[in-house]
Amino acid sequence: MKALTVFTGKYGSSGMYANRLAEEFGDGSQAVDVKQAKKMDLDQWDGMIVGGGVYMGKTPRTLKSFLKKHLDELKNKKIGLFVCCASKAEDSQITEYFEKNFPSELVKKAVFKRVFPGGQVMNEKAGFFYKKMFDQMAKFSKEEIDELIRDTVNDFTK
Ligand SMILES: Cc1cc2nc3c(=O)[nH]c(=O)nc-3n(C[C@H](O)[C@H](O)[C@H](O)COP(=O)(O)O)c2cc1C
Repeated sequence: MKALTVFTGKYGSSGMYANRLAEEFGDGSQAVDVKQAKKMDLDQWDGMIVGGGVYMGKTPRTLKSFLKKHLDELKNKKIGLFVCCASKAEDSQITEYFEKNFPSELVKKAVFKRVFPGGQVMNEKAGFFYKKMFDQMAKFSKEEIDELIRDTVNDFTK
C-alpha cells in the first residue's frame, strides 16, 4: 500500500521509524519531514501516518501547525498516528500525549495510535543532556524494531 509518513523529531528516532515504515509499506511510499510535507500536494495519498518525538509532553509546534492546516484533508484519509518517546505504551500519560498533540477528530478516527520507543538512534544535534538521557533509555534489537514496524503496517493495511 502506498502511504505517506510525515514526521517531526529532533534527535533521529522519529525519522528512523518513519523511514522504516516507508520501506515496509513499499509501493512508492515515502517518509518526509513535516517541513517538506508542508510543500507537498497531499491529494495523491490515501493513507497517511503522522507523528513525532515528545519533549516535555509535547510534540514540536511544526507538527501541530501542519495538522491544523491540513485537518480537512486529513479527516478524509486513512490515518495512523504515532508518538516517539521515553514512555511506554502502557504508561498513563500516553493517552494525554495523543489527546494534547493531535486534533481530537484524528485521534478518534486513527486506525492506530502507536508508541515507538525513543532514544534508539542519536544524531549530531544531541547535546550533553540528551546524551545522558539517551544512555539511560532502553534499547531495542533490530529484530524487535522490525516486528514493531511490521505490526504497525499490518494494522494499517488490514
Ligand atoms: C528535552 C527532552 C524532553 C523529553 N520529554 C519527554 C516526555 O515528556 N515524555 C517522554 O516520554 N519522553 C520524553 N523525552 C524523550 C524523547 O521523546 C525521546 O528521546 C525521543 O526519541 C525523541 O524523538 P527523536 O529522537 O525523534 O527526537 C524527552 C527528551 C528530551 C531531550
